[in-house]
Amino acid sequence: EGSNAESGKKTLTVYTESGFKPFSYLDKGEVTGFDIDLIDAVLSEAGYEYNLENVGWESMLASVQSGEADLAIAGITMNEDRKQTYDFSQPYFESTHKIVFREGEQITSAKDIKGKKIGVQTGTTGAEAAEQIVGNNDKSISKFESNSLAFMSLQSGDVDVVVTDNVVANEYVKNNPDANLDMITDSETFESEFYGILLPKDTALKEDLDQALQTIMENGTFEEIYQEWFDT
Ligand code: ARG
Repeated sequence: EGSNAESGKKTLTVYTESGFKPFSYLDKGEVTGFDIDLIDAVLSEAGYEYNLENVGWESMLASVQSGEADLAIAGITMNEDRKQTYDFSQPYFESTHKIVFREGEQITSAKDIKGKKIGVQTGTTGAEAAEQIVGNNDKSISKFESNSLAFMSLQSGDVDVVVTDNVVANEYVKNNPDANLDMITDSETFESEFYGILLPKDTALKEDLDQALQTIMENGTFEEIYQEWFDT
């Protein structure tokens, strides 16, 4: 662990999982995305240097819990369950779920995934949302290590629907026009949730991150990054 000569602050280990475009993904082998730009701005505001490592979803979570990673950012939803084990920064992005399916499937509400082969990423709120409809560990649910693998199974026909975060669903459908995909959301069933930066419990770092996040939300930097990725 190095420390930054000027600030005396230690160099942080930042983990992400890059199967979650546009928040964290690989572009020509480089990790990029809204979350990657955001954490860069937050840590630069807070005066930290960092090394970014791209790892699997579950090892990312485990590494933050153990403190091997100082923090993680990857479209991670703040929920009560995770708050038992982790701390989160202040929220930075609102999300909900969408159902992505091949055109022709008769899906007009969340309940319609019953009887379909459902793909989700294991250990995500999308997996929970699907399980709330069809039951925990129901046989109709296939859990994939990454969201990208779930989408690939949708295209290959191994699953009929994928339940995932709305912005990631939008991005995937937009970027795969030849896949003939369709999607719906269902605000009666899917609740809104918020992404936060994931931290081990009880670190001094949380305060620094929250302050930096607040500063960049007030000084226009957050807005700039937001516009860059989601210009609407
Ligand atoms: N927001 C959802 C959750 O926290 C999905 C996050 C998936 N992120 C990823 N990098 N694959 O459970």
